[in-house]
Amino acid sequence: MILLLGGSGYVGSAYQQLFLKKQIPFRSISRADVNYYDRQQVVRLIRETRATFLINAAGYTGKPNVDACEIYKTECTLGNTVLPGVIMEACTEVGIPWGHVSSGCIYNGRRADGNGFTEQDTPNFSFRTNNCSFYSGTKALGEEILADAPQCYVWRLRIPFNHCNSSRNYLTKLMRYASLLEAENSISHLEEFVETTFACWEKKIPYGIYNLTNPGAITTHQVVQMILDEAKVRMNEGRENPFPAKKYHFFESEAQFMSIAAKTPRSNCVLDTTKLESFGLKMRSAETAIRDALKNWIH
Ligand SMILES: NC(=O)c1ccc[n+]([C@@H]2O[C@H](COP(=O)([O-])OP(=O)(O)OC[C@H]3O[C@@H](n4cnc5c(N)ncnc54)[C@H](OP(=O)(O)O)[C@@H]3O)[C@@H](O)[C@H]2O)c1
Repeated sequence: MILLLGGSGYVGSAYQQLFLKKQIPFRSISRADVNYYDRQQVVRLIRETRATFLINAAGYTGKPNVDACEIYKTECTLGNTVLPGVIMEACTEVGIPWGHVSSGCIYNGRRADGNGFTEQDTPNFSFRTNNCSFYSGTKALGEEILADAPQCYVWRLRIPFNHCNSSRNYLTKLMRYASLLEAENSISHLEEFVETTFACWEKKIPYGIYNLTNPGAITTHQVVQMILDEAKVRMNEGRENPFPAKKYHFFESEAQFMSIAAKTPRSNCVLDTTKLESFGLKMRSAETAIRDALKNWIH
């Protein structure tokens, strides 16, 4: 039995779909059912359900976007920093392994040597480096709290996307925003992310932090070009084109983006995925995963 916290969310829903597909018994828990912040309630829940593994997909992301975290700081801190700590204590008390959905947004850019950030690199977009959004700061602190957690996977997700048109899907966002910020990023195909995280536990790879992004960084311009390419293929084949027929507009600079469209700096970063691959788990390349999502787009 798998216990899933935050199953009602964007990432949590993908876990529910995975467990249904694989016919794995699970229980999805919401804050309305159990007070996650009360360690003894979580302990009781784990014992009652006889859970053998727990996944924490709960956290505060800010609605409509991460700027909301600058306002709702208490909820953001509780969801992203305090909650992982409470779950760690509960899982440690009962002695069950678990996985925490973290984020790659605790980094910005590339490493000084030009490579992507590895799991061993200290976050450079955090409260400690004093340059981050409130959201990123709370996610980095959450990882710090889990640094010595026994039997714990910390799975770093980054800019989720898939083939379903949705306000939470990165590809939809690019299609809908009036102007785009040019940036280079690692990104995660949502279903591949949840499948691969679960495979970490199924294959019993060592506990610890893992970057779970599709290998190969990608720029905003490159993704837009893939949308345009797919639209062209469909039109040439006389098929319906679900993608917006528009000219994509880009901000002139990050400074212009910040002055017009954002209240807090965004993390744009490249992550290294070789640790995951060294244990035989590999996600498709970012380009393959994006082209496939566009090819199978559900409007
Ligand atoms: N979406 C992204 O772009 C992205 C990228 C990287 C990492 N992540 C991380 O992935 C996790 C899930 O994100 P998501 O996009 O699925 O978020 P989401 O759609 O907002 O869902 C998160 C779920 O967590 C619960 N929740 C919300 N605020 C909470 C709080 N303050 N304390 C405890 N639980 C709270 C809610 O479930 P109930 O109300 O049912 O309890 C909610 O359905 C988060 O930790 C997030 O930081 C997300």
